[in-house]
Amino acid sequence: MGKALIIGCGGVANVTIRKCCQNSDVFKEIMIASRTKRKCDELKAKLDGGKTIIHTAQVDADQVDQLIALIESFKPDLVINLALPYQDLTIMDACLATKTNYMDTANYEPLDTAKFEYKWQWAYRKKFEEAGIMALLGCGFDPGVTGVFSAYAQKHYFDEIHYIDILDANAGDHGYPFATNFNPEINIREVTSKGSYWENGEWVETEPMEIKRIYNFPQIGEKDMYLLHHEELESLALNIKGIKRIRFFMTFGQSYLTHLKCLENVGMTSIEPIDYNGMQIVPLQFLKAVLPDPASLGPRTKGKTNIGCIFQGVKEGKPRTYYVYNVCDHEESYKEVESQAISYTTGVPAMIGAMLMLKGIWNKPGVYNVEEFDPDPFMEALNKWGLPWIEDFNPTLVD
Ligand SMILES: NC(=O)c1ccc[n+]([C@@H]2O[C@H](COP(=O)([O-])OP(=O)(O)OC[C@H]3O[C@@H](n4cnc5c(N)ncnc54)[C@H](OP(=O)(O)O)[C@@H]3O)[C@@H](O)[C@H]2O)c1
Repeated sequence: MGKALIIGCGGVANVTIRKCCQNSDVFKEIMIASRTKRKCDELKAKLDGGKTIIHTAQVDADQVDQLIALIESFKPDLVINLALPYQDLTIMDACLATKTNYMDTANYEPLDTAKFEYKWQWAYRKKFEEAGIMALLGCGFDPGVTGVFSAYAQKHYFDEIHYIDILDANAGDHGYPFATNFNPEINIREVTSKGSYWENGEWVETEPMEIKRIYNFPQIGEKDMYLLHHEELESLALNIKGIKRIRFFMTFGQSYLTHLKCLENVGMTSIEPIDYNGMQIVPLQFLKAVLPDPASLGPRTKGKTNIGCIFQGVKEGKPRTYYVYNVCDHEESYKEVESQAISYTTGVPAMIGAMLMLKGIWNKPGVYNVEEFDPDPFMEALNKWGLPWIEDFNPTLVD
């Protein structure tokens, strides 16, 4: 059916690409293009022989002219951006110049400021509309499936949703005292930033890890979780009618937090460049270089993730609660796609979003977040493609 250009060949891309190849009726031809072409070629060598035709290329996605040349030569129907958030705007610019649809899993963040916001990408709305092309933002799990869950709750179970709590639990054990499950730089920037939540029309800011709750997760058990700022809070606050409060919680183990605090205290998580032997280095980028590569965690991680949303609101005048979540097993994920569950839970929704765009099921010119589309075909595809969901109409609430 279609041609997709996939930019980036890291943990998430590894899953999306394999899932595209499993879905070869839709993904007839793909090109994997990344900074290090060797990784693209290695993956192609593993996957060649199926029905999807795979090409590879080298590209520096910070360079709009290189991206334009690549898009013009391959002529994809869609560009799937699975590089880093820093590349979102250059890739969107190249899509605009070539009138090609765009999709990503994380919102833009300037390299020198640890602050992610949709404002930079939402500023492209009119330009994409006028060019007659579509951009789908944040189509991983969180953001991504959490937005689909919200649209589904809104469509089927509520007249008004008043409270949303997004709970992201990882009970995986990789056996290292400290490692991050996805790109360490992006992960540490996220968790060392101030927390915030949306309440009664405004943002309430908290110190990092200031708000802690304990929750008994289905199939995982009791975990400490901490309130973080997260990008879908921003779009859901706009797109879910009647919303009064949205919070996001993520679980962290004590060993992770103790190591992180220590690294922070000695300045290793800073993004301010420092002079080292006459060379400018960014401490966090140096730390990334010495930490285990998230891709190497796959074969050693055991346990499960549980990510979902608890909704409270009203239906036909009566109060209602609803919890919908997915449980994903690290070892099962590794058996299927040679990646742990964090990359799996992001890479599968990216393939599904791309499929819905290529099939024209999610298709309108402009720049959108996932909850702005009909959630039903996405929910059906989650069950089919490896991320089945479970519903609970009487969940324990978070205080
Ligand atoms: N929504 C969600 O649920 C969710 C969850 C997790 C992650 N994410 C997002 O998913 C994306 C990928 O994460 P990941 O864990 O797969 O990261 P990763 O393993 O570090 O992979 C990033 C890939 O992008 C490539 N890249 C980086 N800069 C590039 C450039 N200038 N030009 C071309 N390629 C470039 C890297 O190339 P090299 O191989 O040369 O380094 C690497 O292949 C990130 O944006 C992350 O924030 C979203």
